[in-house]
Amino acid sequence: MSSTVRDQEPALTERVERRAPSDAAAVRLDGARLSFGDRTLWQDLDLEVAPGEFVAVLGPNGSGKTSLLKVLLGQLGLGAGTARIAGAPARTGNPDIGYVPQQKTIDAGVQLRGVDLVGLGYDGHRWGLGLRARAERRRRVAAAIAEVGAERFAHAPLETMSGGEQQRLRVAQALVGDPKVLLCDEPLLSLDLANQRLVAELIDKRRRTHDTAVLFVTHEINPILPLVDRVLYLVDGRFRIGTPEQVMTSEVLSELYRTQVDVLRVRGRLVVVGTGDTMDALGSAGAHCHGADSGRAPENAAPEQDSSVA
Ligand SMILES: Nc1ncnc2c1ncn2[C@@H]1O[C@H](COP(=O)(O)OP(=O)(O)OP(=O)(O)O)[C@@H](O)[C@H]1O
Ligand SMILES: [Mg+2]
Repeated sequence: MSSTVRDQEPALTERVERRAPSDAAAVRLDGARLSFGDRTLWQDLDLEVAPGEFVAVLGPNGSGKTSLLKVLLGQLGLGAGTARIAGAPARTGNPDIGYVPQQKTIDAGVQLRGVDLVGLGYDGHRWGLGLRARAERRRRVAAAIAEVGAERFAHAPLETMSGGEQQRLRVAQALVGDPKVLLCDEPLLSLDLANQRLVAELIDKRRRTHDTAVLFVTHEINPILPLVDRVLYLVDGRFRIGTPEQVMTSEVLSELYRTQVDVLRVRGRLVVVGTGDTMDALGSAGAHCHGADSGRAPENAAPEQDSSVA
C-alpha cells in the first residue's frame, strides 16, 4: 500500500501550493501587532493586498498609519504576527517596495535637482559604475521622469519647484526601482485640487499598467475615492477593512470612534461629521469631507468641501 501513498504525494503538494495565497499577495499581514512600550497601536491585523489593488489607509493623527508603512519597510518590528512583501518577510532595503514618505520640506540651500532625487531612488537598490550600468541608470531615471510628466522641470533645483512639481518627482523616485508595492504616506498633502488629481492619477495608472499594489495613507480621501478598492480605517487600536461603501458609513465610523459620527452625502461626496480629531481645531467646524461617491470625478467637487480629514 506504500506505493499508493507515494502516488498521492505529488497531488498533495500541488494542492498545498494552490492553497497558499501568501506568495500571490503583494502585501500580507497576519495577526500583526505593533506596540511602543505598553502602548499598542493595533493588533490582530490581517490584511492581504493583491497585486494591482489600491488600498487607502485612513485614521486620525497618531493612529499608526505611518508606523504600518514602516513595518512593511522593515523599519519597525511587529510585537506579534508576520508581515510579508511579495511572499518574503518584510525587511529594510527591499527593492520590491517604492516609498513616498510623509512630506518633508526640501531644505533650502540643498542644490539637489529633480533628476538627482529620482536617481537616488534607483541607487538605493543597485550598485555598479560601469558604462553599461550608468547608461541603464540614465535610461531608467528618464523613464520614471517621463512617467510622471516631469521632463520640463526635472533638471531644475528642487527648492525652486512648486509643491506639485516636487511631489511628482518624489513619486518618480518611488517608481524608478520598478516596485511591486507602492507605499504612499499622505502624498496629496498641501497640493491643490488639480495636482491632487494629477498625482493620484499617476499612481492609479501605475497600478493598472504594472499591477503594482498601492497602500495610500491619506486624510484627503475625496480625490482618490473613485480609485480606491478597499479602505483600512484605523482609530485608537480599532480598525475596519472593506470597500469604501462598507467602511465609510455612520454606523461603522461611530463604532470606530466610539462616538456619534455622521457620514453624509453632499453633492455626491462623503462628508464625515463628528470625528472630533485635530482637524476640528483647524477650522473645519467638525465637518470632515471624506470623498466623492465612487465614479464621480474629483474635479466636480466644490473646493470648499475639500477640507477633509480621516
Ligand atoms: N519609534 C517610535 N517610538 C515610540 N513611539 C512611536 C514611534 N513611532 C511612532 N510612535 C508613536 O506611535 C503613534 C503613531 O504614530 P504614526 O506616525 O504611525 O501615526 P500616524 O497615524 O501616521 O499619524 P499622522 O496622521 O499624524 O501622520 C504616535 O503616537 C507616535 O508618537
Ligand atoms: Mg503619519
